[in-house]
Amino acid sequence: MRRLKLAVLISGRGSNMEALLNAAAADPDFPAQPVLVLSNRPEAAGLKIAEAAGVAAVSIDHKTYGKDREAFEFHVDATLRGANVEVIALAGFMRVLTPWFVKRWEGRMINIHPSLLPKHKGLDTHQRAIDAGDAEAGCSVHWVSAGVDEGEIIAQARVPILTGDTADSLAARTLPEEHRLYPEALKIACKKILEDMTDG
Ligand code: GRF
Repeated sequence: MRRLKLAVLISGRGSNMEALLNAAAADPDFPAQPVLVLSNRPEAAGLKIAEAAGVAAVSIDHKTYGKDREAFEFHVDATLRGANVEVIALAGFMRVLTPWFVKRWEGRMINIHPSLLPKHKGLDTHQRAIDAGDAEAGCSVHWVSAGVDEGEIIAQARVPILTGDTADSLAARTLPEEHRLYPEALKIACKKILEDMTDG
């Protein structure tokens, strides 16, 4: 099967990125081949994980660009295109993307969010799920569209919220589900992209 060239965009720890790299390495039929890990923070721990896995790891420090989001994104976009990237997985990437960038990668970019979307978009999802009295939480992988955390959902996984849960305990219960879900959802996304390529 043809493998789409994958870039994973991170800002920190990179455990979801690592799960994607591991899934691609473990399965010759995995439909994506990681070619680039890109962080907007030079100190992101995930960059070292990518290097150790033999995947090109680069940082483009958004702070260098001040408030000029588009200049930052032009550089990111040029780097992605330079690596012939065909699909992007956002994995803990903490920059809101402009409509320009989202449009440019429409139908080619997915994100993982630690809530059962459409509930709890944005930050502090675990605390907000607990405060809302929700019986369950989870994670969602979705196509990236103009609104933050609003694109079409590809796949979700659920975990219970237990009495006495804190944001940390709930995050710890959710994270292994993220690591299981993201590779599966990326497979679904790649299948769709490959189908669209064939149709188009
Ligand atoms: C994950 O919980 C992800 O869902 C959220 O940010 C966290 C990133 O963790 N968007 P990691 O960098 O993948 O370890």
